[in-house]
Amino acid sequence: MRVIETQDYYHMSRTAANIISAQIIIKPNSVIGLATGSTPIGTYEQLIRWYEKGDLDFSNVTTINLDEYKGIAPDNEQSYRYFMNKHLFDRINIDKKNTYVPDGLEMDSDKACSDYNRIIRESGGVDLQLLGLGNNGHIGFNEPGEAFEKETHCVKLTESTVKANSRFFDTIDEVPKEAYTMGIKAIMQAKKIVVVVSGEGKAEIAKKAFFGPVTPKVPASVLQLHNDVTVIMCK
Ligand code: F6R
Repeated sequence: MRVIETQDYYHMSRTAANIISAQIIIKPNSVIGLATGSTPIGTYEQLIRWYEKGDLDFSNVTTINLDEYKGIAPDNEQSYRYFMNKHLFDRINIDKKNTYVPDGLEMDSDKACSDYNRIIRESGGVDLQLLGLGNNGHIGFNEPGEAFEKETHCVKLTESTVKANSRFFDTIDEVPKEAYTMGIKAIMQAKKIVVVVSGEGKAEIAKKAFFGPVTPKVPASVLQLHNDVTVIMCK
C-alpha cells in the first residue's frame, strides 16, 4: 500500500486523476470502478478538464459504480446515477450504455444484486477502482460488521451513514435506509485501487483503516491485503 500525502484537495484530486488518466491512455477500453460522495468530485473535475483539452478519450471506457440507494429513480437528484451523470458522464464522451450503476428501482434485492454481479463478471473485471472512505470505515456501502460481505448485496445503512448522507436531503427522514453495494470480493479483485481521503475529520478512521488490524469492523482495512493500493490523502 502506497500512501501519498498531498498539500490540499486540489493536489489530491489531480494525483488521483493522473493515475486514472494514465490507466485510460495505456488501456483505452479500461473498466473503471467509480465512487460517488464529496471526495471524488475534484478528481472528476480534473478528468473533465483533460478531456476538454483533448488529452483524454473515454469513448471505449466502461465504468461500474459501487453503489446506489434502493427505491430511488435514476432521475431523482439524490440518486447516484444522477450524481454520476452530473459530475462526470454528461461532460465527457463516454457511451452511457457502458456506464453501470446498480438499479435502484429494482425492489427485488436478490435480482438487483445478481444482475449486478453478472455485469461485473461480464465486464471482465475492474482494471482500476476509485474509492472514498466513509466516516465509519466503509467502502462502497460495505458497512462495519461481523464479516466481510463478498458479493453485491442490499445493505441497511448504519445510523452514522444515514446521518452523514442527510446533508444532501431536506430532512433526515428522506434519506433512503437501504442501498445496493458491490461487495468486498469485486473491490478486492480490481487490478489497481486508488483511495481518495480528504479532511481532518477522516484522519482517525484513515489511521485505523490503513495502519490498524484488518477487521470487518473497519471494512476499508481489507485493502491492506491488496497488492496495488494507492491512498491519496490531504488535510
Ligand atoms: C459512495 C461510496 C462511499 C463514499 C464514502 C465517503 O459511492 O462509495 O463509500 O466513498 O461514504 O464519502 P465522502 O467522499 O462524501 O466523504
